[in-house]
Amino acid sequence: MDTENDNPGFFDLVNSVRAMRRLKPDPVPNDLLEKVLEAGVQAPSSMNSQPWAFVVLRDSAAKQWFADRYKTAIDFALAGTDISSESNSSLAKQLRAVEYQKNHIHEFPVLLLVCGKRDWPFKVPESERLGKAPPSYGAVYPCVQNILLACRAVGLGAALTTMHQLFEDELQERFEIPEDYGVVVTIPIGFPMGKFGSVSRTPAKQVTYFDRWGQTAG
Ligand SMILES: Cc1cc2nc3c(=O)[nH]c(=O)nc-3n(C[C@H](O)[C@H](O)[C@H](O)COP(=O)(O)O)c2cc1C
Repeated sequence: MDTENDNPGFFDLVNSVRAMRRLKPDPVPNDLLEKVLEAGVQAPSSMNSQPWAFVVLRDSAAKQWFADRYKTAIDFALAGTDISSESNSSLAKQLRAVEYQKNHIHEFPVLLLVCGKRDWPFKVPESERLGKAPPSYGAVYPCVQNILLACRAVGLGAALTTMHQLFEDELQERFEIPEDYGVVVTIPIGFPMGKFGSVSRTPAKQVTYFDRWGQTAG
């Protein structure tokens, strides 16, 4: 397996779950994918409702269909952004990775659509429940994070995206996703071309207050 650390401890894992956007086209073995999805469904959910479902795109035509629309969505979202190779800022580096992902996403072995059962939040009164309810984001995200952690644990790279929202209805129809579910995130998965490295985050201490907003530990 192509990993720099085949069996990272929990905190090493958490500290190195990067958005891996450059992936090899090599197939993901079924047993690894199963392991990852099994980790996903161990997540908690409200009343143990387990409102998730997965659509795994592996077929070339299916991935190409997704890739064509994804490219348009990213071009729209990043229109006018400078991703020239001269810029060495972390944002420019990230955007170049996004550009790579956009141009190669059809070659990645797995595009995972994580779906959530639609459910109105409690605070929306019956009288205001018009159209389709949103998928249960809060319940699906722990499942998504388990998937990202599990990918890292088995040496697979993954990068979550929500850009499919720009072609959500078409996506739903193309892959015959029933109306009572919505796609929450898409996760391209494959063996990474680069290293996992460590994430760069503001320390928790700097965003933690005690007993009221603004009061630090002193
Ligand atoms: C809700 C959400 C949406 C995201 N959408 C995208 C996306 O559309 N495209 C993408 O390449 N990365 C996406 N990401 C990944 C983040 O951009 C990435 O995790 C963040 O910039 C930190 O980078 P790192 O994970 O490499 O440290 C998303 C992450 C989250 C949690």
